[in-house]
Amino acid sequence: MGGIAWGTHFVMTGADSYFRKLNNVWAAIREAFGLRLGTSIRPGIAPLWRGLALVAVLWGLTACGTATLQASTEYQTVTPSADGIGRVYLGREIAQTMGHQGAGWLDRPSRALQERPQIAIAALDLSPTDIVADIGAGTGYFARRIAPLVPQGKVLAVDIQPEMLAMLQAELEAKGIENVELVLGQPDRPNLPPGSIDLALMVDAYHEFANPREVMEGVVAALKPGGRVVLAEYKAENPLVMIKRLHKMSVAQVRREMAQVGLDWVKTDDSLPEQHLLFFQKSA
Ligand SMILES: C[S@@+](CC[C@H](N)C(=O)[O-])C[C@H]1O[C@@H](n2cnc3c(N)ncnc32)[C@H](O)[C@@H]1O
Repeated sequence: MGGIAWGTHFVMTGADSYFRKLNNVWAAIREAFGLRLGTSIRPGIAPLWRGLALVAVLWGLTACGTATLQASTEYQTVTPSADGIGRVYLGREIAQTMGHQGAGWLDRPSRALQERPQIAIAALDLSPTDIVADIGAGTGYFARRIAPLVPQGKVLAVDIQPEMLAMLQAELEAKGIENVELVLGQPDRPNLPPGSIDLALMVDAYHEFANPREVMEGVVAALKPGGRVVLAEYKAENPLVMIKRLHKMSVAQVRREMAQVGLDWVKTDDSLPEQHLLFFQKSA
């Protein structure tokens, strides 16, 4: 397993640096093709077609980054990317785990407006008795918001970092939430009892599981027959979602990986601004 990275998923460098990088890409394209199409890209003044060309280039670069990796069901080792651990599963390099030092990013005030988590929670269509496992719960941003919706059930908040669980415990005590249980997982197993959960939720987490197949086998075993799995992952298909490449996933990739553990795809909900919500089910 690669190290746990400090910092956030966000493309860190801010607008200036981002547009500087775009200019570099643009300059390289102009040089390569001998184009004389203006001198720089700046937000707000670039003609539409130039913007479209850049989006196409960025999309192409993202696609190229993954196309060269072999889509093998065995884990493979490659030279780690800047935000990766050098371990490849089904053609996808696994992202570095977000360290607990960056936990403040998970609870940033702007998150509600940026990601619309309430839309995601409503889409889960929870029953009051549901047992929900929030796997890769972090500080429990979702676990804490789901708990009141399952008053006769509970939330099992699973994470591999005890520091994350300690932060969640403090929040639970401060808010008097009593139906969230903390579970210390391991990189290759969620440590959930077999046949015990109605829903496994993974928000912005699955892409950084160092052993995704083993964790998902554990999740499938922990689901009741007919139980559901929901993943929220930043949209890899959209270059305008400003999240590091390996912390995003395409719909096709998520479906490919869930199929490996025998989960049936139910639907993809794309109503969130930045994330796909993918719904799967264990056979009844
Ligand atoms: C980016 S955070 C997301 C936290 C939370 N879901 C949220 O949206 O606020 C990803 C979390 O997944 C956890 N994680 C990584 N690998 C894991 C694994 N194999 N099992 C459980 N949690 C894991 C990390 O420790 C981290 O807290």
